[in-house]
Amino acid sequence: MMRPIVLSRFSSKLGGGTERLGDLMRRLVMILVFLAASTAGAAEADKAPSFTEEQATRGEDIYFQFCLQCHGANLSDGEFGAPIRGSFFRGRWDGKSLAELMTFMTESMPPEDPGYLYPEEYADVMAYILKRNEVAPGDAEIPPDPAAVQNVILHW
Ligand code: HEC
Repeated sequence: MMRPIVLSRFSSKLGGGTERLGDLMRRLVMILVFLAASTAGAAEADKAPSFTEEQATRGEDIYFQFCLQCHGANLSDGEFGAPIRGSFFRGRWDGKSLAELMTFMTESMPPEDPGYLYPEEYADVMAYILKRNEVAPGDAEIPPDPAAVQNVILHW
C-alpha cells in the first residue's frame, strides 16, 4: 500500500533532477556556442586587404575607361576628381574598412552614373587603386561585395 506512493515521489524527484540537469546542459551548450562564435569573430577581425596582380590589371582597363578623365593618369592629377592616390587619400581612409570605401565608390562613382559598373568591376578597379597606393598584391581577389570586406581594414 505504501510502496507505490514512495516510488512515485521518488520518480517525481528524479524527474525534477533530470530537468535541472538538462537545463544546466543547455546553458553549457549555449556558453560553448557563444565562445566558439566569439573566437571565430576574433579570427576574422582586422584583415589586411588582398587583391591579385591580375585583378589590378583588369581594374586598370576599367579605370582608363571610366575614371581617368576626372582622376587623371596618376590618380592624383585629375582636373575634375579628388586625389585617389597619395598621402591625402591615404590619410582620409587610413583605419577605415575597405567596405566603406567600396560602398562610397559604388554609390557615387562615376558621378554622372553611380552604380553603372558591375560589382566585379568596382572590386577590380578597387584593386587597381590599392596597387597604385603601394598596397602589395596577395593571392586572394577583392570579392565583388562590400559586405564581405567589412573586416578588412585599410592601413598605410
Ligand atoms: C566626372 C568626374 C569623375 C569621374 C568620371 C569619376 N570620379 Fe571619382 N570623384 C570625382 C569627384 C568630384 C570626387 C570627390 C567627390 C566627393 O568627395 O564627394 C570623386 C571621389 C572619388 C573617390 C573618393 C576619394 C576620397 O578620398 O574621398 C573615389 C575612390 C573615386 N572617386 C573613385 C572613382 C572611380 C573608381 C571612378 C571610375 C569608376 C571614378 N571615381 C570616376 C569625380 C569623378
